[in-house]
Amino acid sequence: MGGPAGNPEEVEAMKHVSLFVPAIFVTVLGVMALGQIIPGDSGTYPSVSIVNTPHNLNNYPGVNIPGNQICLPCHTPHNALLSGDDNVLWNHAETGETFVMYKSTAGQPEGPSKMCLSCHDGVTAIDNYGGTGGTGIKITGKAAFGTDLSNDHPIGIAYPTGLPLEYKTPPFAPGIGGGPGVKLVSINSVNRVECTSCHNVHNNGLGSFLRVPIQESYLCLQCHIK
Ligand code: HEC
Ligand code: HEC
Ligand code: HEC
Ligand code: HEC
Repeated sequence: MGGPAGNPEEVEAMKHVSLFVPAIFVTVLGVMALGQIIPGDSGTYPSVSIVNTPHNLNNYPGVNIPGNQICLPCHTPHNALLSGDDNVLWNHAETGETFVMYKSTAGQPEGPSKMCLSCHDGVTAIDNYGGTGGTGIKITGKAAFGTDLSNDHPIGIAYPTGLPLEYKTPPFAPGIGGGPGVKLVSINSVNRVECTSCHNVHNNGLGSFLRVPIQESYLCLQCHIK
């Protein structure tokens, strides 16, 4: 091989290379700037509004929400179907199923977890809201858990305290936009792990509606010291 200024053909080839290499470099930098999620740096977590996610239920084949009221299948401003603290103006029919839990000693799903399972049981119709009964369209596939939760991460369980070598003590690291990351849910004055401990139904920036990245198992390591 000759030096950099070899025969004319080589010089011509070098020119192409020298244009090509910076082009790739700039593209790679661009992708990194736009897309790289760095666990622990909430400034890098993308935000994707519920409008553009599977929780805009108008995106689900066959479901038609009048006036494209995205919130309506889950919330109503008046005459909510639930009452009491944290009823979040709930508007969707609740699941009537009995679930098999991870631990046989755990009680049936309550609070936000019961809300999730009111579609993710794969039994209750997605558009059964506002007391209408719905059209019978149900979730199928892997987002439909059925009634057996014994092979899913435990929910409805008290978060252990006083085990400093096993479980981290809150507060947990921030999530999308510096908002709440992993969180515990207080039910009957007990801080528990529920579906919403890991998921944020309203924002899908991190995929799977997660509250913090799953990359490097960052989500798991919020609670578990391993
Ligand atoms: C697929 C169901 C679903 C849809 C659609 C939905 N939400 Fe929610 N929302 C929930 C659940 C479940 C909770 C309770 C658990 C929690 O706090 O995340 C909740 C809680 C809330 C809360 C109280 C807690 C908080 O996060 O501030 C507000 C406010 C709220 N939703 C607003 C909205 C608005 C506004 C829309 C429409 C743009 C909407 N939601 C669409 C399921 C939904
Ligand atoms: C009103 C019905 C409804 C409720 C209530 C609901 N979901 Fe969903 N969810 C859906 C539908 C429909 C999909 C899309 C399923 C599919 O594509 O097969 C979905 C998808 C998801 C996905 C997959 C997202 C992805 O990127 O593929 C997750 C995670 C999820 N939901 C979590 C939750 C959690 C957690 C709750 C409760 C806090 C909840 N959902 C409450 C209807 C609901
Ligand atoms: C300890 C954290 C944690 C809890 C608690 C949790 N999830 Fe998830 N969930 C995840 C993670 C992580 C994923 C993404 C899995 C993947 O991408 O392979 C996920 C995925 C999902 C999906 C997408 C389907 C799938 O299998 O990938 C749905 C739907 C879902 N979760 C609903 C729920 C519901 C409903 C509850 C409560 C009954 C719940 N989750 C509780 C962490 C959790
Ligand atoms: C919000 C806190 C929290 C997060 C996040 C979390 N866990 Fe857990 N996990 C718990 C608690 C609490 C238990 C149940 C402890 C008990 O009652 O024995 C548990 C139980 C488990 C168990 C069963 C342990 C047993 O003794 O049966 C496994 C395995 C596990 N988690 C793995 C994971 C993985 C993997 C992730 C990430 C995808 C994760 N966890 C995320 C809090 C969390």
